[in-house]
Amino acid sequence: MLEVEDFIRGAVEDIRTKIKGKAIIACSGGVDSMVSAALASKAIGDRLLAVYVDTGLMRKGETEEVRGMFEEMKISFKMIDASEEFFASLKGVADPEKKRKVIGELFIRVFEREAKEFGAEYLVQGTIAPDWIESGSTGKDTIKSHHNVGGLPKEMGMTLVEPLWDLYKEDVRQVARALGVRSSERQPFPGPGLSVRCLDEVTPENIAIVREACYVVEDELQNASKAKKMELPWQYFAALLPTRSTGVINDERMYGKTVVVRAVLTKDAITATPAHIPYEVLETISKRITNTLGDKVTRVVYDVTTKPPATIEWE
Ligand code: XMP
Repeated sequence: MLEVEDFIRGAVEDIRTKIKGKAIIACSGGVDSMVSAALASKAIGDRLLAVYVDTGLMRKGETEEVRGMFEEMKISFKMIDASEEFFASLKGVADPEKKRKVIGELFIRVFEREAKEFGAEYLVQGTIAPDWIESGSTGKDTIKSHHNVGGLPKEMGMTLVEPLWDLYKEDVRQVARALGVRSSERQPFPGPGLSVRCLDEVTPENIAIVREACYVVEDELQNASKAKKMELPWQYFAALLPTRSTGVINDERMYGKTVVVRAVLTKDAITATPAHIPYEVLETISKRITNTLGDKVTRVVYDVTTKPPATIEWE
């Protein structure tokens, strides 16, 4: 069991000792980066700059929500809209590892510009235990290049500070609650954003479909949980598949896209089981997705695979 207050005190002291000058952190609004930013901000105040890069791959309403969080927590921040650059770099890239690489590298370039401008010598990162375990730091094979472990630090010439290194997601959530970080109950979201959930070409149009489908899944499951029809799963979202199939819209046959709904239960994201969503809730999700995106999506399916052998995300 994590002693939350002790952890916070220790982490703040540790950050204060380590960081002598200015530090920067890339914040996506996820619980890991926000907790790291909150701890660092407590430790060094305005010598920390939190940078939010809008890659165009964010969820619905996310950018404004993150701005609100920074303001509420009085963390000094900067918002950067780099979506056009990201879509241009992702043109024609289908391979998942290549996508991660392209996004990771561009992210570094955008972030590096800001770090130089701010004069940061230290880089704070929200890396948690499953990130480095799965990325092979223990000598295991690399499962995937998590972009918050992959490329950022070495070439940038900044000293790395990772206050959450030994923590698992649930520990981070406890710390978040104690610090009043609003994203404490937010679901985990991959560093490369909705591109991970878009198995079709990453274009603004396809990302708009995934964004809406993810929003519908989140909204309907949250409604179902409030109505006591089910407990909220650990993670729940939609992904757009490259598979096309025939559908019928307004009596006309069309070749539409397929959305898969994924909802899992897990403790540590290393293994997972599919959530038992009541059938009526699944049907509501399917109807709402096809009603909202009916000119593009003609099929909705539910993924009932455990991890392993599947992963939680589709990518
Ligand atoms: P998989 O799909 O490997 O995902 O079963 C395990 C958990 O990790 C999340 N995930 C990421 N988290 N950066 C992150 O911080 C990433 O690049 C990334 N990719 C996947 C995923 O959503 C799931 O909760």
